[in-house]
Amino acid sequence: MNQKPEPFLYTESVAHTFPDGVAAIIDISLSIEAGSYVSLVGASGVGKSTLLRIIGGILKPSGGEIFLKGGSPEKAGDPIGIVFQRDNLMPWRTVIDNVRLPLELRGVNGKEAIIEAEEMIELVGLSGVESSYPAQLSGGMAQRVAIARALVHRPSLLLLDEPFGSLDALTRERMGQELLHIWHAMPVTVFMVTHSIHEAVLLSDEVLVMTGRPGTLTERLPISLPRPRLLEMQATTEFQECASAVRTAIEAGRVL
Ligand SMILES: Nc1ncnc2c1ncn2[C@@H]1O[C@H](COP(=O)(O)OP(=O)(O)OP(=O)(O)O)[C@@H](O)[C@H]1O
Ligand SMILES: [Mg+2]
Repeated sequence: MNQKPEPFLYTESVAHTFPDGVAAIIDISLSIEAGSYVSLVGASGVGKSTLLRIIGGILKPSGGEIFLKGGSPEKAGDPIGIVFQRDNLMPWRTVIDNVRLPLELRGVNGKEAIIEAEEMIELVGLSGVESSYPAQLSGGMAQRVAIARALVHRPSLLLLDEPFGSLDALTRERMGQELLHIWHAMPVTVFMVTHSIHEAVLLSDEVLVMTGRPGTLTERLPISLPRPRLLEMQATTEFQECASAVRTAIEAGRVL
């Protein structure tokens, strides 16, 4: 490739002030390449969820613009998958009925929807629990259902807002590895908010750091560790250096 392609996603001076006057984010310009895995870290309240919601089209920014594939996200017409910190499953629907919900909303029903949903359930390692209800699942399983639901309409962009925040450390590590497996198996760009520096470094091509109030992007750290990223890598000097660079960038913002 001799000509640099248009970034898959970019934001131009995005800002948001809530109607009550709280300025959450300011002047956020970022670009994300197609197929990459990018994480966003920063202290609590810095505006990470606000930015994610704006990129996902759930919240309209009070300033700036978002471009997906060079145009407005509406024009691109690509579905976007979103996983929230809490799984947000519908308790009265079975696993398969939760997973096929986005298809149903787009008018895709019947056998086609079932086949697609079953495929995603298998991808997230949940075959066999299709007829269970959310209350019968562990926290990790429920989050996997939420991930399957976000992927069922084959989005080109998957947004994750602290998807493993409520899970124990070991399950969380396993889920991270599973996400990498999914990312390798599907042509999807991932943008993930996380509180875990180690998780961000282990999974990502790039870690973005937000600081300040209102929050803005203050650091962009490429992670050049080789892939596949295995848990054991966390013990290497290279990994530790990346993690400490991210930590320093987050801390730098605290004293501003
Ligand atoms: N609906 C809302 N109305 C008014 N202010 C809001 C609203 N949602 C968020 N805020 C404010 O915007 C700022 C950023 O919030 P946001 O939830 O984006 O932060 P965050 O970085 O995701 O935090 P956390 O890590 O705790 O999830 C905070 O000051 C918050 O109080
Ligand atoms: Mg948040």
